[in-house]
Amino acid sequence: MRKKLLSLIPEFQLFKDSLLKNKTIRVWEQALKEGCWTIEDLLEMPFTLLIPDTSVNIIQHTRAVTRCAMKIADVLLEEYKGKVSINKDFLLAGSLLHDVGKLFEYERKSGRFQKSKAGKLLRHPISGAAFANKFEIPQEILHIIAAHSKEGDGQRRTVEAIIVNHADFVNFDALKT
Ligand SMILES: [Fe+2]
Repeated sequence: MRKKLLSLIPEFQLFKDSLLKNKTIRVWEQALKEGCWTIEDLLEMPFTLLIPDTSVNIIQHTRAVTRCAMKIADVLLEEYKGKVSINKDFLLAGSLLHDVGKLFEYERKSGRFQKSKAGKLLRHPISGAAFANKFEIPQEILHIIAAHSKEGDGQRRTVEAIIVNHADFVNFDALKT
């Protein structure tokens, strides 16, 4: 499972902190297990249910958001040297985990993905943060997961959470039009 995840999501290799890398992979592995999904399911799982029949799956979306977030961070760090500080490992983990809660928010019935009962009660930012908390994921990363969508509106986001929020929405809005 770990090997397959690493080959599907090469961005796992960008971590400097190998402990955080392992914890982040473990969250994905366990979410697959507890959600009763296979790796193959992930390749068919739409990244959103709000764009009917989108062909963009959750892996492609997670990778795109992660790559956008890391590039945004590089530009900000280069342009605003000394004025902005970004923990790139936290940003990486937050990007990779921001939608992991969708493994609990969705279910598959007769081949079609739909909201699960759990998903109607707790959207993925909340279920994802709560699930990641079981694996000693630092609070700064739980914050990124919990605040990446509308759940984070109206509260103060960290710079890393601001980046993931925007990277996520640019990837959603670009496909929605
Ligand atoms: Fe997302």
